[in-house]
Amino acid sequence: MLKKRYTAIILMTVFWGSQAYADGHKVAIASAHPLATAAGFEILDKGGNVFDAAVAVSAALAVVEPTGSGLGGGGYWLLHREKDGFETLIDGREKAPLAAHKAMYLDKDGQVIPKLSLDGALAAAIPGMPAGLVHLSEKYGKLPLADSLAPAIRYAQTGYAIGNRYLKMLKVRAELIKQYPATADIFLDNGKLPQPYSILRQPDLAHTLTQLAKSGRDGFYSGCMADKLVKGVNKAGGIWTKEDLESYQIAERKPVTGHYKGIKITSAAPSSSGGIVLIEALNILSGYDLQKTDEITRKHLITEAMRRAYHDRTLYLGDADFIDIPVKRLLNEDYAAGLRSSLRPDKALPSEMLSGEIEQQPEGTNTTHFSIIDEEGNRVAATLSINFPFGSGFVVAGTGVVLNDEMDDFSSLPGAMNGYGLVGGVANAIAPGKRMLSSMTPTFLETDTQVAVLGTPGGSRIISMVLLAALDFAKGNGPESWVQVPRFHHQFMPDVIEYEKGALSDAEITGLAAKGHQLKVARYPYGDMQAVLLNKANKSLSAASDKRGEGRAVVGH
Ligand code: GLY
Repeated sequence: MLKKRYTAIILMTVFWGSQAYADGHKVAIASAHPLATAAGFEILDKGGNVFDAAVAVSAALAVVEPTGSGLGGGGYWLLHREKDGFETLIDGREKAPLAAHKAMYLDKDGQVIPKLSLDGALAAAIPGMPAGLVHLSEKYGKLPLADSLAPAIRYAQTGYAIGNRYLKMLKVRAELIKQYPATADIFLDNGKLPQPYSILRQPDLAHTLTQLAKSGRDGFYSGCMADKLVKGVNKAGGIWTKEDLESYQIAERKPVTGHYKGIKITSAAPSSSGGIVLIEALNILSGYDLQKTDEITRKHLITEAMRRAYHDRTLYLGDADFIDIPVKRLLNEDYAAGLRSSLRPDKALPSEMLSGEIEQQPEGTNTTHFSIIDEEGNRVAATLSINFPFGSGFVVAGTGVVLNDEMDDFSSLPGAMNGYGLVGGVANAIAPGKRMLSSMTPTFLETDTQVAVLGTPGGSRIISMVLLAALDFAKGNGPESWVQVPRFHHQFMPDVIEYEKGALSDAEITGLAAKGHQLKVARYPYGDMQAVLLNKANKSLSAASDKRGEGRAVVGH
């Protein structure tokens, strides 16, 4: 299955062979993998628009970055069409199976059974990615779906060289993957970790993508494929039915918007918490001049804004199709002013003063993001996920599709932590057909002269990463700077500032501790931000890919 071969040449040929015009316009693409960025340009060369390119990049990432997203997962595509200013969020988030129920991950004493919502078939929700791709292509693209899926199908058939990031993630999930022969056959080399730069071919996934290309959503949600998926999932302890697959629908949502010091922010609406938490934190911070405060106070204020916004995430956010969310209030600037009035520049507010005590947060890095913009301003910010690296670790034999473990993003028990240490309440409780709350934050930032498109993977830390990048944009910096901003994070519970090594100076660590903060260094650098920028005045484009990852940002010219 995996043959050792070094293929830098293949990568470069595929990539640099591409032209860069869509409808005669220049385009910038930043994604987590060079082949995914190349797939976007390939489709632009064929006459596709940025939305066709987004289908191609999404599908390619499903093949060349199977750690982060895929047909077995879901995600959000934030779109802007320049000619009429139309904006929408395609919510392709997974849904709980119809047989799901509140107590499905609890033991007889009502306690959460560790890992049951993270590993194996019972952790998998009904995928939204295939339906999202079909919808994006048919409603907004110019080319047939089959054209936009062609690069992904080719990558799955002919293979690509695996990188170090992939191997790192595989190592984390190898013991889980070993339990599932169909998954191990694809990703392990006779049960062992493959060598770096081995070629990974995925013929079953190529077949599944081809069925999607030929039959649209029926190629995944009906017929033979649906039979195979339901049978395979249930044999492994899952609870899917054919009705789950037949009835899955994406939703189009009005993106959430806000303003921060002359910048318009447009981002993901629920079922993701991303946009609301981001805008709420920025609203709190809008009462300060962060450029004029000293660094310790600046980081303290940002932390306190994160604490309060993530606290509201816990209280109020979930699937808007199931619960009433006070969106207007959470995005209201006067509401933020009220939260700001509880904020002291000299002192941290312990999270327990806001709500109950929770312990520590495990590491988490997963998901993927890409950003596209053309010189007219048409754009896509997409964050896609199967949740933890390699999702649930479970593949139904013959499909090549890694199933997600997004069920863990529900709150299995109010007050209990999920895999990211996030606590949730009843708003995010499990219910049949409900979407689990996400932190994905595909975002546009716009001023009179500039449009930025950005986002990142990283579980609960996604929102704080986008917040720090937005503040860097507000300082006047460009994409190269936003993606490299040293990161720190607070998510209300656990009550700790987690920071990348080197992100805080010794003086800042001491100063923040003196204000009452607890601090913890993250085990690894985190995130993989992908960002593009249009300067409206001269239509120049720029793009950047996070150096923490192995992505590629290109401006076609
Ligand atoms: N699975 C990560 C998120 O949606 O936030």
